[in-house]
Amino acid sequence: MGDTSKSHGSHVDKTSMQAFPVDQILDNSSTDFDLFLEAAGGLTLYAQATYKWSKDELTRLLANGHKSLFYRQAETPRVDFYLRIHKQVQVDVLSHPRLRILNLTEAAAELTRVLYEYDVTPVVIAKAADVAVAMVQCVKQDPTCITALGQLVQHDEYTYYHSARVGAYALAIAVQLSQSDETKLAAMATGALLHDVGKARVDRKVLDKRGALTPPEWDEMRLHPVHGDAMVAESQLSVVPRQIILHHHERLDGTGYPHKLTGKELLEEVKIVAFADVFDALTTSRPYQVCRTRFEALAFIRDRLLANLHSDSYNALVEILAGRVKQSA
Ligand SMILES: [Fe+2]
Ligand SMILES: [Fe+2]
Repeated sequence: MGDTSKSHGSHVDKTSMQAFPVDQILDNSSTDFDLFLEAAGGLTLYAQATYKWSKDELTRLLANGHKSLFYRQAETPRVDFYLRIHKQVQVDVLSHPRLRILNLTEAAAELTRVLYEYDVTPVVIAKAADVAVAMVQCVKQDPTCITALGQLVQHDEYTYYHSARVGAYALAIAVQLSQSDETKLAAMATGALLHDVGKARVDRKVLDKRGALTPPEWDEMRLHPVHGDAMVAESQLSVVPRQIILHHHERLDGTGYPHKLTGKELLEEVKIVAFADVFDALTTSRPYQVCRTRFEALAFIRDRLLANLHSDSYNALVEILAGRVKQSA
């Protein structure tokens, strides 16, 4: 303070700026709007977008009396977006996996809600990856934690919680299939969390329709993998999540969409997520569909769908639900 020099080029007029409380910034998160620091009687650009935060830095700012940073009013939508996406649901990493998976599902559902209202940005991708990593640790610790995931969800909420549950189921299956590489698991979980992102571009009336879809409505619904692929085309998303988004409705016998690929052409991670996707749809109450118990759903898959779906995933899920889990390191 005390520097009255008005000629300092980096100083900004405070009247057009809004305060942003430092304690609203989560460590390890990224802000995609510029943040300014009040210093020497003016505002100086401090954290240029995109800026990654560490706990140490946030602690230091608060310790130095900087309770708030400032952003340009014009960036309010980005700020609102940041606050929504990081509105946590505190996830205690030491809590029991059955409780933790519920909190993580809540966090992932909020992420999905945000995806329906805003664009896919690097902040969303980073947030999905964070939730995915936390899910990996949780499910690795106890794959049976997935049994805590509720079967009955309000129809309107289905869209939001579905992807989170698919992520958890897919992880439990992959761990049971001896996949222990956390980077690979997290990539798969990120893909699962985002797999239906393209539904954000499907007409809401079709998406929320309670009755059976007409053929043209089905045509529109079936575009969601291609929409999703286009939405993440410019993102930093790696190959596995992108393949999951584009191919999760392909079937091993070539009867799926959009490209009628066969089992040989699909990544293992895609097959696992596709299986988890079907399992979640069967165990959730939907319009025109009774909600099956987990065991009814497995019997239905065994009898009717297994020719098209990943049989290793089926076997793994049977083992998990029977409590015969492989404990990984
Ligand atoms: Fe889908
Ligand atoms: Fe899905």
